[in-house]
Amino acid sequence: MNLEIIQGDILDKYCDLLVVNLFEGVARPGGATGVVDKALSGEISKYISRKKFEGKLGEWLVIPSNGKIKAQSVAVMGLGKRENFDVDSVRKLGGFMIKLAKSEKVSTLSTILHGVGIGRLDAREGAQALTEGLFLGSYHFKAYKGAQHKKKKQELEIKSVTVMELDSRLCKAGQEGLNRGKLMAEATSLARDLVNTPSSDMTPARLAAEAQKLAVRGSGITCKIFDHKAMERIGMRAALAVGRGSLHAPVGVHLIYRPAVSKKTVAVVGKAVSFDSGGLSLKPSEHMTTMKIDMAGAASVIGLFKALSELKPKITVHGIFLAVENMPSGSAYRPGDVVAAMDGTTIEVLNTDAEGRVTLADALCYAKKQKPDMIIDLATLTGACVVALGEEIAGLMTDQESISEKLLTASKESGEPLWRLPLFASYQKQVESKIADIKNVGGGSGGGTITAALFLKTFVGDTPWAHIDIAGPSYTEKETRPDQAYGASGYGVRLISQFLASLVK
Ligand code: BES
Ligand code: ZN
Ligand code: ZN
Repeated sequence: MNLEIIQGDILDKYCDLLVVNLFEGVARPGGATGVVDKALSGEISKYISRKKFEGKLGEWLVIPSNGKIKAQSVAVMGLGKRENFDVDSVRKLGGFMIKLAKSEKVSTLSTILHGVGIGRLDAREGAQALTEGLFLGSYHFKAYKGAQHKKKKQELEIKSVTVMELDSRLCKAGQEGLNRGKLMAEATSLARDLVNTPSSDMTPARLAAEAQKLAVRGSGITCKIFDHKAMERIGMRAALAVGRGSLHAPVGVHLIYRPAVSKKTVAVVGKAVSFDSGGLSLKPSEHMTTMKIDMAGAASVIGLFKALSELKPKITVHGIFLAVENMPSGSAYRPGDVVAAMDGTTIEVLNTDAEGRVTLADALCYAKKQKPDMIIDLATLTGACVVALGEEIAGLMTDQESISEKLLTASKESGEPLWRLPLFASYQKQVESKIADIKNVGGGSGGGTITAALFLKTFVGDTPWAHIDIAGPSYTEKETRPDQAYGASGYGVRLISQFLASLVK
């Protein structure tokens, strides 16, 4: 799909479908919609007065233009209620536009900068959100489909979307937003691809290779890979224990993005369990079917670095993950084993399925050693978080008010839902062990997301830190938003990119 912004009149563009918009409850269309309505002799107003179209977000109305303008047909898309309208409405609108184009079987579209005039959105932000919605709404994971299917899909593909804007200044800002949106959609799609790829192919070694690919000349990125022997030397015994039952050896990855001028240093750590069978504490099969997604944190770190290589923010960023596969076998770590993390903390393993926190213990110790100003981790850590917040919202846990505030703002802007849960100190005793320094399960009486976070907290020491449990939103089997199809979401790429940008504003 080719997306461009052109200075010019919307009525002058030849295309299959011209897309304008309307707020819910508006009787007399204004702005571009008003102009098109006039050119169509009030046809749009007629539909509205007959109550055939209300303007709800996700609703559309298609009218043939009968040669009155250059576009063959016109679609009016709902923006929803004015009081609920924000930048994420435009992102959703972009996703709905793809659905509209598919249902109308059209391949060339023209449209406007939605929400920029009457919706009072910044042109750059509006264009970015529209672009993200359009590209993420078109995302399909095709790698494992046969040739026949691929051919069929291609025939239906949308060829071009042209955004028409008369004001040259808005065109310039719109172009910037469009470029950034395209970049964010590409980085998110990369993360989606990595998560959607079956675990037999997305092994720890493959994850490391995918990270390594980003370290090219001019990117500002370097990548260090630690094989299991190097991990042993550094003392990452906890992560190694988790991977011991698998035929695929663990691999450690340390990406670094270094700008010419750096104002801050942030470490972003991802959970990277390439497949989580539960280990000897084997998962029931219905819980195992989706466990290829247990490296979604690391996938988002890789996606983030792809974005960083082009966004080039003035922040040094460390991307860290320890890739392992959690399998049961004669060499697997056992319930009851005690393993030592890099900083010497001993961990009693009471459930081998609570493996994420055991691998993250070493990853966080390693991150802390880079002396960052803060650590953010992304992890598909607990089923309890899905129970608490559902499938669309990630859980945020941190003691740092300013980090929390910035992450929650970035969440609103990026359209990746996040909700804060307390790092309730008195639950810390639930992870105390009788025979080791700490144990890898809580008290079993609820609050599993918080006790998992408190376990992690032990390893970050004084470094400001925020933990994001993405077990819910990293993957969906039902379409939750128009820009989110079945499968992986790439959650975190846009959130963290936006958050990092807000640190150096
Ligand atoms: N990878 C899972 C968590 C998960 C569940 C991610 C559902 C995505 C969707 C994690 O390793 C796990 O198994 N956690 C256990 C912890 C328990 C044994 C203390 C859980 O949540 O049940
Ligand atoms: Zn597990
Ligand atoms: Zn897991």
